[in-house]
Amino acid sequence: MSEFRVKAISKLHAEFSVPGDKSMSHRAAIFGGLSNGVCTVRNFLPSEDCVNTLNAMKALGARYEVLDELPGYGPVNLRIHGQSMKLSQPAAPIDCGNAGTGMRLLAGLLAGQSFSTELFGDASLSSRPMGRITVPLGQMGANIETRGEKPGCAPLFIHPAKLNPITYDMPMASAQVKSAVLLAGMFAEGKTTVIQPAETRDHTERMLASFRVNTNREGNAISIVGGQVPESCDFTVPGDISSAAFWLVAAAALPGSRLLIKDVGLNPTRTAILKVLSRMGAHMTEIEHSSEGEPIGNIEIHGAALTGTTIFIEEVPNLIDEIPVIAVAAALAQGKTIIRNAKELRVKETDRITTVVNGLRAMGADVEEFEDGMEIAGGKPLHAATIDSCGDHRIAMAFAIAGLFAEGETVIKNTECVNTSYPGFSHHLDAILHERSQAADFTLPTLAIA
Ligand code: S3P
Repeated sequence: MSEFRVKAISKLHAEFSVPGDKSMSHRAAIFGGLSNGVCTVRNFLPSEDCVNTLNAMKALGARYEVLDELPGYGPVNLRIHGQSMKLSQPAAPIDCGNAGTGMRLLAGLLAGQSFSTELFGDASLSSRPMGRITVPLGQMGANIETRGEKPGCAPLFIHPAKLNPITYDMPMASAQVKSAVLLAGMFAEGKTTVIQPAETRDHTERMLASFRVNTNREGNAISIVGGQVPESCDFTVPGDISSAAFWLVAAAALPGSRLLIKDVGLNPTRTAILKVLSRMGAHMTEIEHSSEGEPIGNIEIHGAALTGTTIFIEEVPNLIDEIPVIAVAAALAQGKTIIRNAKELRVKETDRITTVVNGLRAMGADVEEFEDGMEIAGGKPLHAATIDSCGDHRIAMAFAIAGLFAEGETVIKNTECVNTSYPGFSHHLDAILHERSQAADFTLPTLAIA
């Protein structure tokens, strides 16, 4: 079992980029595979989660060639051969690994096919709620059985069905559910509409537009008319702002630091983390250098003595994946930080309210747990502890950042899971721990295959 050993740092001066965006990589694999030709995808996230989605599409008939890979992880640049919306029955059950996004989006894609498929995942994924997709897909006429030990959970058995379009008023703000219904809608005759209770990440809508599939948005209602075939296109995945968030917090909380994260996604449905860190006192500039499809740019941050803040209700879906590391920033800040309306955290890779609260308390922080969040009275000095990630990549990385500010040596156990979203994290952590600042110290070596 691998672990991180982390000690306090006194300086952070670095410029680097983080691996490709996880949400966009899943979608690039899916829409590339559905398209009517060859798509070159650059800076794909070579993580276990996204490679599983790529292999799922391959099992459904969409072959891919690897152009460059991150050795030991997976493809970074690749060519996908789309199937013009005509998928074939996979020879075996499809493994979604740890990925809620992979499983939920693929379920939407497979709900309206003329063949059966089984989707399964690891223990964490098999305990996460799938009713949130089987309910709307069932309303469309899908026939999906959840055969997990826990009711309503994976494995999913998806039987052949002909889908009807629906208008679905989504009870929770979830981009995965929205995307599953829109993907199913691509195989239904007529107009399918999803109404979201709050803005969620809009990568599906943006990527559909890149593939020349029309969607229509009125307020929080997004519609798609079935039968459109995505037109093949090339796509460059920006760096993942959720991965950048770990280093942004480390730099923000260390007065005198300077960090430049390059070529990262700046989609406004994902950048609330920047607003929160600015409110807490970090000095930040964002420079967008490309806004076609997905905005991409650089973020420069200078550290400061942080102060606590309150996360606004409308910010929560926009920074849901960053809350573990925001909680770490809150423990390092002076004053109170309040995170509420975030009950969704309880059904992530772990119950992230409990795992974060327990980890911060083990390191000496003053935290109160609520059903829908936590309140952190920041400013108490952190001390080293041994933290079990419980198999949750973002818990492992968030507590590695806490360790950079704690007295003594913090040990994070069970860190293999980090590969589900951030291959190369330990390489970057090592460079930060040794206070290196050269770009070469952070470069992840890719290997040309083709
Ligand atoms: C994702 C949506 C979010 C997020 C997850 C990725 C996506 O989940 O937490 O990491 O790619 O659509 P929910 O849809 O459950 O909010």
